[in-house]
Amino acid sequence: MRNIVVLTGAGVSAESGVATFRGPDGLWEGHRVEDVATPHAFERDPALVHAFYDARRAKLGTVEPNGAHAALARLDAEWPGELLIVTQNVDDLHERAGTKRLLHMHGELKKGWCLACGERFPWDGPMGENSLNAVRPEPVEGLSFFSNEQRKSSPSTMTKTDHPPDGPGLSSSGRTDVRGTSVRTSSGRTEVGICEAVNICPSCNAVGRVRPDIVWFGEMPYAMERIDEALMRCDLFVSIGTSGAVYPAAGFVQTARYCGAHCVEINLEPSLGSYFFHESRIGKAGELVPQWVDEVLAA
Ligand code: OAD
Repeated sequence: MRNIVVLTGAGVSAESGVATFRGPDGLWEGHRVEDVATPHAFERDPALVHAFYDARRAKLGTVEPNGAHAALARLDAEWPGELLIVTQNVDDLHERAGTKRLLHMHGELKKGWCLACGERFPWDGPMGENSLNAVRPEPVEGLSFFSNEQRKSSPSTMTKTDHPPDGPGLSSSGRTDVRGTSVRTSSGRTEVGICEAVNICPSCNAVGRVRPDIVWFGEMPYAMERIDEALMRCDLFVSIGTSGAVYPAAGFVQTARYCGAHCVEINLEPSLGSYFFHESRIGKAGELVPQWVDEVLAA
Protein backbone atom coordinates (compact mmCIF):
# COMPACT_ATOMS: atom_id res chain seq x y z
CA MET A 1 0.00 0.00 0.00
CA ARG A 2 1.42 3.38 -1.04
CA ASN A 3 -1.25 5.97 -1.60
CA ILE A 4 -3.68 7.23 1.01
CA VAL A 5 -6.48 9.79 0.83
CA VAL A 6 -8.07 10.96 4.08
CA LEU A 7 -11.30 12.97 4.10
CA THR A 8 -12.17 14.81 7.31
CA GLY A 9 -15.34 16.57 8.41
CA ALA A 10 -16.70 18.45 11.39
CA GLY A 11 -16.50 15.37 13.65
CA VAL A 12 -12.69 15.52 13.65
CA SER A 13 -12.83 18.93 15.36
CA ALA A 14 -15.76 18.12 17.68
CA GLU A 15 -13.53 17.09 20.59
CA SER A 16 -11.70 20.42 20.25
CA GLY A 17 -14.97 22.17 20.99
CA VAL A 18 -15.92 23.19 17.46
CA ALA A 19 -19.62 22.41 16.96
CA THR A 20 -20.57 20.03 14.16
CA PHE A 21 -23.13 21.07 11.56
CA ARG A 22 -25.79 18.49 12.02
CA GLY A 23 -25.39 17.52 15.67
CA PRO A 24 -27.81 18.62 18.37
CA ASP A 25 -25.55 21.59 19.17
CA GLY A 26 -24.91 22.19 15.47
CA LEU A 27 -23.76 25.53 14.21
CA TRP A 28 -26.82 25.88 12.10
CA GLU A 29 -29.00 26.12 15.19
CA GLY A 30 -30.86 29.36 15.01
CA HIS A 31 -29.78 29.84 11.41
CA ARG A 32 -31.23 28.18 8.37
CA VAL A 33 -28.40 27.19 6.05
CA GLU A 34 -29.82 29.36 3.29
CA ASP A 35 -29.61 32.40 5.62
CA VAL A 36 -25.88 32.15 6.17
CA ALA A 37 -24.21 29.81 3.69
CA THR A 38 -25.32 30.73 0.20
CA PRO A 39 -24.22 33.53 -2.16
CA HIS A 40 -27.83 34.71 -2.17
CA ALA A 41 -27.83 35.05 1.62
CA PHE A 42 -24.72 37.23 1.39
CA GLU A 43 -26.32 39.48 -1.22
CA ARG A 44 -29.48 39.78 0.86
CA ASP A 45 -27.99 40.29 4.33
CA PRO A 46 -24.18 40.64 4.34
CA ALA A 47 -24.17 41.85 7.97
CA LEU A 48 -25.82 38.62 9.19
CA VAL A 49 -23.48 36.42 7.14
CA HIS A 50 -20.40 38.37 8.27
CA ALA A 51 -21.54 38.19 11.90
CA PHE A 52 -22.00 34.40 11.61
CA TYR A 53 -18.50 33.82 10.19
CA ASP A 54 -16.88 36.48 12.37
CA ALA A 55 -18.13 34.57 15.42
CA ARG A 56 -16.75 31.31 14.08
CA ARG A 57 -13.40 32.92 13.23
CA ALA A 58 -13.17 34.41 16.73
CA LYS A 59 -13.92 30.98 18.22
CA LEU A 60 -10.79 29.55 16.54
CA GLY A 61 -8.66 31.49 19.00
CA THR A 62 -10.22 29.56 21.87
CA VAL A 63 -9.80 25.98 20.58
CA GLU A 64 -6.83 23.65 20.13
CA PRO A 65 -6.13 20.64 17.89
CA ASN A 66 -7.07 17.30 19.48
CA GLY A 67 -5.60 13.79 19.34
CA ALA A 68 -7.12 13.09 15.92
CA HIS A 69 -5.49 16.16 14.35
CA ALA A 70 -2.18 15.25 16.01
CA ALA A 71 -2.35 11.65 14.76
CA LEU A 72 -3.04 12.77 11.19
CA ALA A 73 -0.11 15.20 11.38
CA ARG A 74 2.07 12.27 12.49
CA LEU A 75 0.83 10.21 9.55
CA ASP A 76 1.72 13.11 7.27
CA ALA A 77 5.21 13.39 8.75
CA GLU A 78 5.96 9.65 8.74
CA TRP A 79 4.10 8.13 5.79
CA PRO A 80 6.62 7.57 2.99
CA GLY A 81 4.06 7.12 0.23
CA GLU A 82 1.58 9.55 -1.27
CA LEU A 83 -0.89 11.13 1.12
CA LEU A 84 -3.57 13.75 0.69
CA ILE A 85 -5.67 14.96 3.59
CA VAL A 86 -8.78 16.66 2.26
CA THR A 87 -10.79 18.53 4.82
CA GLN A 88 -14.29 19.93 4.56
CA ASN A 89 -13.55 21.94 7.69
CA VAL A 90 -12.91 25.66 7.49
CA ASP A 91 -11.06 25.76 10.83
CA ASP A 92 -7.24 25.73 10.95
CA LEU A 93 -6.76 22.85 13.40
CA HIS A 94 -5.11 20.44 10.93
CA GLU A 95 -2.39 22.95 10.05
CA ARG A 96 -1.96 23.97 13.67
CA ALA A 97 -1.33 20.29 14.48
CA GLY A 98 1.40 20.30 11.81
CA THR A 99 -0.26 18.71 8.77
CA LYS A 100 1.27 19.84 5.48
CA ARG A 101 -0.27 17.63 2.79
CA LEU A 102 -3.66 19.27 3.25
CA LEU A 103 -6.42 20.70 1.07
CA HIS A 104 -9.32 22.81 2.33
CA MET A 105 -12.02 21.92 -0.18
CA HIS A 106 -14.63 24.19 1.46
CA GLY A 107 -12.30 27.16 1.99
CA GLU A 108 -10.89 28.65 5.17
CA LEU A 109 -12.27 30.92 7.87
CA LYS A 110 -8.94 32.69 8.07
CA LYS A 111 -8.95 33.79 4.46
CA GLY A 112 -10.76 36.58 2.67
CA TRP A 113 -11.77 36.86 -0.97
CA CYS A 114 -12.14 40.25 -2.59
CA LEU A 115 -15.16 40.46 -4.84
CA ALA A 116 -13.70 43.55 -6.53
CA CYS A 117 -10.30 42.21 -7.66
CA GLY A 118 -10.69 38.44 -7.12
CA GLU A 119 -7.65 38.11 -4.83
CA ARG A 120 -7.64 35.72 -1.88
CA PHE A 121 -5.52 36.45 1.19
CA PRO A 122 -5.08 35.58 4.88
CA TRP A 123 -7.51 37.35 7.19
CA ASP A 124 -7.50 37.74 10.95
CA GLY A 125 -10.18 39.37 13.06
CA PRO A 126 -13.69 40.31 12.05
CA MET A 127 -14.82 41.15 8.53
CA GLY A 128 -18.24 42.59 9.18
CA GLU A 129 -18.93 46.08 10.36
CA ASN A 130 -21.39 45.16 13.08
CA SER A 131 -18.86 43.10 14.97
CA LEU A 132 -16.80 46.21 15.61
CA ASN A 133 -19.28 47.64 18.06
CA ALA A 134 -17.62 45.36 20.56
CA VAL A 135 -14.42 47.39 20.49
CA ARG A 136 -15.96 50.81 20.80
CA PRO A 137 -14.31 52.38 23.85
CA GLU A 138 -16.45 53.99 26.46
CA PRO A 139 -16.96 57.66 25.65
CA VAL A 140 -14.59 59.77 27.70
CA GLU A 141 -16.12 62.46 29.81
CA GLY A 142 -15.70 65.89 28.31
CA LEU A 143 -14.85 64.50 24.88
CA SER A 144 -17.30 63.79 22.15
CA PHE A 145 -16.73 61.71 19.06
CA PHE A 146 -16.70 63.56 15.81
CA SER A 147 -19.60 63.24 13.44
CA ASN A 148 -18.92 61.97 9.93
CA GLU A 149 -19.09 65.54 8.64
CA GLN A 150 -16.56 66.75 11.21
CA ARG A 151 -14.22 63.87 10.34
CA LYS A 152 -14.40 64.67 6.67
CA SER A 153 -13.33 68.20 7.40
CA SER A 154 -10.56 67.17 9.82
CA PRO A 155 -8.51 64.54 8.02
CA SER A 156 -5.50 65.05 10.23
CA THR A 157 -7.38 63.53 13.16
CA MET A 158 -8.07 60.25 11.33
CA THR A 159 -5.98 57.38 12.60
CA LYS A 160 -5.50 53.75 11.80
CA THR A 161 -5.15 51.90 15.03
CA ASP A 162 -3.24 49.02 16.46
CA HIS A 163 -5.26 46.36 18.17
CA PRO A 164 -4.39 42.91 19.44
CA PRO A 165 -4.48 40.27 16.69
CA ASP A 166 -7.97 39.17 17.63
CA GLY A 167 -9.26 42.68 17.53
CA PRO A 168 -10.21 44.50 14.39
CA GLY A 169 -7.56 43.87 12.32
CA LEU A 170 -4.18 44.30 11.97
CA SER A 171 -2.29 41.81 10.04
CA SER A 172 -0.26 43.03 7.18
CA SER A 173 -2.67 41.03 5.07
CA GLY A 174 -6.39 41.52 5.11
CA ARG A 175 -7.86 43.60 7.80
CA THR A 176 -10.82 45.42 9.06
CA ASP A 177 -9.83 49.01 9.28
CA VAL A 178 -11.04 51.24 12.02
CA ARG A 179 -11.24 54.93 11.47
CA GLY A 180 -11.80 57.33 14.25
CA THR A 181 -10.27 59.94 16.43
CA SER A 182 -7.56 59.39 19.03
CA VAL A 183 -8.62 60.39 22.48
CA ARG A 184 -6.90 60.26 25.82
CA THR A 185 -8.78 58.42 28.54
CA SER A 186 -8.65 59.18 32.23
CA SER A 187 -6.17 56.29 32.62
CA GLY A 188 -3.82 58.10 30.27
CA ARG A 189 -4.12 55.47 27.50
CA THR A 190 -4.72 56.61 23.98
CA GLU A 191 -7.79 54.99 22.52
CA VAL A 192 -9.73 55.55 19.42
CA GLY A 193 -13.24 56.82 19.18
CA ILE A 194 -14.64 54.49 16.59
CA CYS A 195 -16.94 56.26 14.28
CA GLU A 196 -16.68 54.04 11.26
CA ALA A 197 -15.32 50.59 10.52
CA VAL A 198 -14.97 48.97 7.15
CA ASN A 199 -13.30 46.00 5.54
CA ILE A 200 -10.62 46.86 3.02
CA CYS A 201 -8.97 44.62 0.42
CA PRO A 202 -5.20 44.54 1.00
CA SER A 203 -4.67 44.06 -2.72
CA CYS A 204 -6.89 46.67 -4.43
CA ASN A 205 -8.06 48.72 -1.42
CA ALA A 206 -11.72 48.24 -2.32
CA VAL A 207 -13.86 49.01 0.70
CA GLY A 208 -16.42 46.53 2.02
CA ARG A 209 -15.96 44.01 -0.81
CA VAL A 210 -14.15 41.23 1.07
CA ARG A 211 -16.19 38.10 1.78
CA PRO A 212 -15.19 35.00 3.73
CA ASP A 213 -13.25 32.59 1.50
CA ILE A 214 -15.75 29.83 2.25
CA VAL A 215 -17.41 27.62 -0.34
CA TRP A 216 -21.13 28.18 0.05
CA PHE A 217 -23.94 25.96 -1.15
CA GLY A 218 -24.23 26.27 -4.91
CA GLU A 219 -20.50 27.06 -5.32
CA MET A 220 -17.76 24.76 -6.60
CA PRO A 221 -15.46 23.27 -3.93
CA TYR A 222 -11.75 23.92 -4.36
CA ALA A 223 -9.18 21.64 -6.00
CA MET A 224 -11.66 19.06 -7.27
CA GLU A 225 -9.39 17.98 -10.13
CA ARG A 226 -6.48 17.29 -7.80
CA ILE A 227 -8.74 15.46 -5.35
CA ASP A 228 -10.25 13.29 -8.10
CA GLU A 229 -6.79 12.32 -9.33
CA ALA A 230 -5.72 11.35 -5.82
CA LEU A 231 -8.92 9.33 -5.27
CA MET A 232 -8.39 7.41 -8.50
CA ARG A 233 -4.81 6.55 -7.51
CA CYS A 234 -5.25 5.73 -3.83
CA ASP A 235 -5.07 2.24 -2.27
CA LEU A 236 -6.67 3.35 0.99
CA PHE A 237 -9.45 5.89 1.49
CA VAL A 238 -10.40 6.91 5.01
CA SER A 239 -13.32 9.15 5.90
CA ILE A 240 -13.29 10.66 9.40
CA GLY A 241 -16.02 12.58 11.22
CA THR A 242 -18.34 13.38 8.36
CA SER A 243 -22.05 12.63 8.06
CA GLY A 244 -21.88 11.99 4.31
CA ALA A 245 -24.71 14.46 3.73
CA VAL A 246 -22.93 16.97 1.49
CA TYR A 247 -21.72 16.28 -2.06
CA PRO A 248 -19.26 16.09 -3.74
CA ALA A 249 -17.34 14.96 -0.61
CA ALA A 250 -20.00 12.37 0.19
CA GLY A 251 -19.27 10.70 -3.18
CA PHE A 252 -15.48 10.36 -2.69
CA VAL A 253 -15.90 6.88 -1.24
CA GLN A 254 -17.65 5.70 -4.38
CA THR A 255 -14.86 6.98 -6.65
CA ALA A 256 -12.14 5.52 -4.44
CA ARG A 257 -13.89 2.16 -4.12
CA TYR A 258 -14.66 1.95 -7.83
CA CYS A 259 -10.96 2.56 -8.51
CA GLY A 260 -9.93 -0.26 -6.17
CA ALA A 261 -9.17 1.38 -2.81
CA HIS A 262 -9.89 -0.20 0.55
CA CYS A 263 -12.37 2.18 2.20
CA VAL A 264 -12.64 2.81 5.95
CA GLU A 265 -14.86 5.19 7.87
CA ILE A 266 -14.24 6.44 11.40
CA ASN A 267 -17.28 8.20 12.84
CA LEU A 268 -19.39 8.49 15.94
CA GLU A 269 -22.24 6.80 14.08
CA PRO A 270 -22.57 5.14 10.67
CA SER A 271 -22.57 7.87 8.02
CA LEU A 272 -25.27 8.14 5.37
CA GLY A 273 -23.06 6.30 2.87
CA SER A 274 -21.83 3.75 5.37
CA TYR A 275 -22.61 0.79 3.11
CA PHE A 276 -20.00 1.96 0.58
CA PHE A 277 -17.18 1.38 3.07
CA HIS A 278 -15.42 -1.95 3.58
CA GLU A 279 -14.97 -1.15 7.24
CA SER A 280 -16.72 1.14 9.76
CA ARG A 281 -15.08 2.01 13.04
CA ILE A 282 -17.64 3.60 15.30
CA GLY A 283 -16.45 5.89 18.10
CA LYS A 284 -14.67 9.12 18.86
CA ALA A 285 -12.09 10.37 16.37
CA GLY A 286 -9.79 11.46 19.21
CA GLU A 287 -9.50 7.81 20.29
CA LEU A 288 -9.89 5.85 17.05
CA VAL A 289 -7.74 7.93 14.69
CA PRO A 290 -4.51 7.58 16.74
CA GLN A 291 -5.11 3.79 16.86
CA TRP A 292 -5.69 3.65 13.12
CA VAL A 293 -2.57 5.74 12.39
CA ASP A 294 -0.50 3.41 14.61
CA GLU A 295 -1.78 0.43 12.60
CA VAL A 296 -1.03 2.04 9.23
CA LEU A 297 2.48 3.11 10.20
CA ALA A 298 3.23 -0.30 11.72
CA ALA A 299 1.99 -2.30 8.69
P1 OAD B 1 -21.72 17.07 9.95
O1 OAD B 1 -22.06 17.89 11.13
O2 OAD B 1 -22.78 16.87 8.92
O3 OAD B 1 -21.28 15.62 10.42
C1 OAD B 1 -20.36 15.44 11.46
C2 OAD B 1 -20.25 13.95 11.72
O4 OAD B 1 -19.25 13.80 12.70
C3 OAD B 1 -21.53 13.31 12.24
O5 OAD B 1 -21.80 12.13 11.50
C4 OAD B 1 -21.20 12.99 13.70
O6 OAD B 1 -21.80 11.78 14.14
C5 OAD B 1 -19.70 12.83 13.65
N1 OAD B 1 -19.03 13.13 14.91
C6 OAD B 1 -19.37 14.01 15.88
N2 OAD B 1 -18.48 14.01 16.87
C7 OAD B 1 -17.53 13.09 16.55
C8 OAD B 1 -16.33 12.64 17.16
N3 OAD B 1 -15.93 13.09 18.33
N4 OAD B 1 -15.62 11.69 16.52
C9 OAD B 1 -16.02 11.19 15.34
N5 OAD B 1 -17.12 11.59 14.69
C10 OAD B 1 -17.88 12.53 15.29
O7 OAD B 1 -20.40 17.69 9.31
P2 OAD B 1 -19.75 17.45 7.89
O8 OAD B 1 -20.06 16.08 7.39
O9 OAD B 1 -18.34 17.84 7.99
O10 OAD B 1 -20.04 22.79 4.37
O11 OAD B 1 -20.52 18.53 7.01
C11 OAD B 1 -20.15 18.66 5.67
C12 OAD B 1 -20.36 20.07 5.23
O12 OAD B 1 -21.68 20.49 5.54
C13 OAD B 1 -19.51 21.08 5.94
O13 OAD B 1 -18.20 21.18 5.43
C14 OAD B 1 -20.25 22.36 5.71
C15 OAD B 1 -21.66 21.87 5.91
O14 OAD B 1 -22.60 22.48 5.18
C16 OAD B 1 -19.85 24.09 4.12
O15 OAD B 1 -19.80 24.94 4.99
C17 OAD B 1 -19.69 24.41 2.68
